[in-house]
Amino acid sequence: MMVAQPLPYDMGNAGDLLKHGILAEFTQWWCKTHSKSIRFIDPFGGRPWAEPPVPLVTDRVKSLRGFALFEAQPKPEMRYYGSGHIVRNAARAVGQDADVLVSDRDTMALQALIESGLSALRYPGFDPINGFSIVSTDIEADLVLIDPYAKFLKDKAPQVIPQAAKASTRMAVVLFVLNLNPRNAVGQGYAALKSDHFPNAWTMHCPKLRSTGVRGESNYEAEVLLSSSDLNANPLAIGLRAKLEKYAQKLTEVFGTHILFSAGA
Ligand SMILES: C[S@@+](CC[C@H](N)C(=O)[O-])C[C@H]1O[C@@H](n2cnc3c(N)ncnc32)[C@H](O)[C@@H]1O
Repeated sequence: MMVAQPLPYDMGNAGDLLKHGILAEFTQWWCKTHSKSIRFIDPFGGRPWAEPPVPLVTDRVKSLRGFALFEAQPKPEMRYYGSGHIVRNAARAVGQDADVLVSDRDTMALQALIESGLSALRYPGFDPINGFSIVSTDIEADLVLIDPYAKFLKDKAPQVIPQAAKASTRMAVVLFVLNLNPRNAVGQGYAALKSDHFPNAWTMHCPKLRSTGVRGESNYEAEVLLSSSDLNANPLAIGLRAKLEKYAQKLTEVFGTHILFSAGA
């Protein structure tokens, strides 16, 4: 397998456990309620896995028994899987499968993802160098993850959030946001964009953690936003909501800090 640029964070950090927990729970809920395989697109695919994960990540994952992410990380001592494999493992654990289409502007990262068994995302109007371009295409999928680095709020959010909101009327959108300071102009700009374009989105929020030795969880507040017309229209979504409430309670225990889950307006 080719080796991509080293990451500036440890895979499986607190923000990852929020994001990956939501992806895994949504996938299992979706596969069960629709009784079919899920199509997941990940234009910011990252790495297929970290091998081995840092020991605290292994301990945290092992404590998640009963949640979908536990099933999606079958080898927590050896490997922490990234988003594409998590969705696939979560779907398989409930007897379905996932068609996982990935991309990344880092060509080495992309090659490692493909070599790990995932499929390349190609679509008219989609530019792999600009993963955000996926939300302005008419691609059909069940779930898309928008998962860039921290500059997103400053640079791209005003343009991308309205397009992502539009895409969420035909497929579920998960957006991962790193927020340096929710009280500064950039942080407040994000709050305004959210209430204008995603008034009914579900969110899970993690404050900055005190230094734990896991890289990537002490500098930014992390928020994961989930939006899908299914969540508001499908009465069965109450089951997913209850599971995510429990998951946030579990993460509150695991991190020793309050993880806030909100199911829309
Ligand atoms: C946080 S990592 C993705 C992690 C992965 N989605 C997961 O959850 O396991 C972000 C990835 O997005 C890629 N990336 C950042 N900005 C991008 C852009 N504008 N277009 C395409 N890829 C981008 C980076 O190369 C990096 O590999």
